[in-house]
Amino acid sequence: MPPDWLQKNFDFTGRRVLVTGAAGGLGQALARAFAATGASMVLADIDGDRLAAFARELDGDIACHRFDQGDLASIAALADAVGAIDVLLNNAGIILVKPLLETSPEEMRRVMDVNLVGPMALARHLAVGMTARGRGVIINISSQLAFCGAEGRAVYAAAKAGLAQFTKSAAVEWGRSGVRVVAIAPGRLLTTMTTFLGKDEAAFEAGIARVPVGRYGTPEEIAKLAVFLASPAADYVVGETVIADGGYVLG
Ligand SMILES: NC(=O)c1ccc[n+]([C@@H]2O[C@H](COP(=O)([O-])OP(=O)(O)OC[C@H]3O[C@@H](n4cnc5c(N)ncnc54)[C@H](O)[C@@H]3O)[C@@H](O)[C@H]2O)c1
Repeated sequence: MPPDWLQKNFDFTGRRVLVTGAAGGLGQALARAFAATGASMVLADIDGDRLAAFARELDGDIACHRFDQGDLASIAALADAVGAIDVLLNNAGIILVKPLLETSPEEMRRVMDVNLVGPMALARHLAVGMTARGRGVIINISSQLAFCGAEGRAVYAAAKAGLAQFTKSAAVEWGRSGVRVVAIAPGRLLTTMTTFLGKDEAAFEAGIARVPVGRYGTPEEIAKLAVFLASPAADYVVGETVIADGGYVLG
């Protein structure tokens, strides 16, 4: 018989879990994984139609909200609407693949707003309740690009590196209040965000060749890690950004 802690570790019954970007590839995998733990799911995305269609596939207690993570008023409204949240998966994001010299300052601002300012603002709003209740977990979805350079991705990488650094300081600030802040830096996953890869077979294969395990990752692999990090098994993991990239950033 497995010990009690092992059996109960991944039971999130009675917990409310918010996944942003839940209509997307990783967001759907996160939502499915946490729904399977028994959690009450709160799903949010800018694409309300795709989110509603996805939510119909899930069983259990599911609420859906449309919001724009690039708009501070929309983030505040989401935080008000969702009420008490035990686990935040700060997952929504956008990619910009463009040479820096062709990138406008307005494009830079939008990427930073959606990928960095928005997740920080949402974490800050929800941490009010989490710190008051003395419990909560925030998982920020960063990227392997927080740890290495890549052509055409400077602004995206800057936002994701910012999120990893935010994770450390927020973890220090809220740790004594019972709120654990961690991050995951996924390697390349095949989702809507990376459909552009499918258009260039040579680039697709060259990308795989650079991954030590010889393949891209799956959203489900990241979702399993997220369940672990949100669970009591990871109670002493604080401020860490866990890189899950098949070894890509090792060189
Ligand atoms: N796919 C990868 O290779 C990869 C690698 C590392 C990190 N990530 C990160 O994982 C997260 C999920 O990405 P994905 O691969 O599932 O991409 P995706 O494009 O499939 O999903 C992203 C979701 O975020 C939503 N979204 C976009 N802008 C939004 C906004 N302003 N407000 C609210 N929602 C918004 C989209 O509608 C979409 O449903 C992102 O933060 C991304 O940066 C992805």
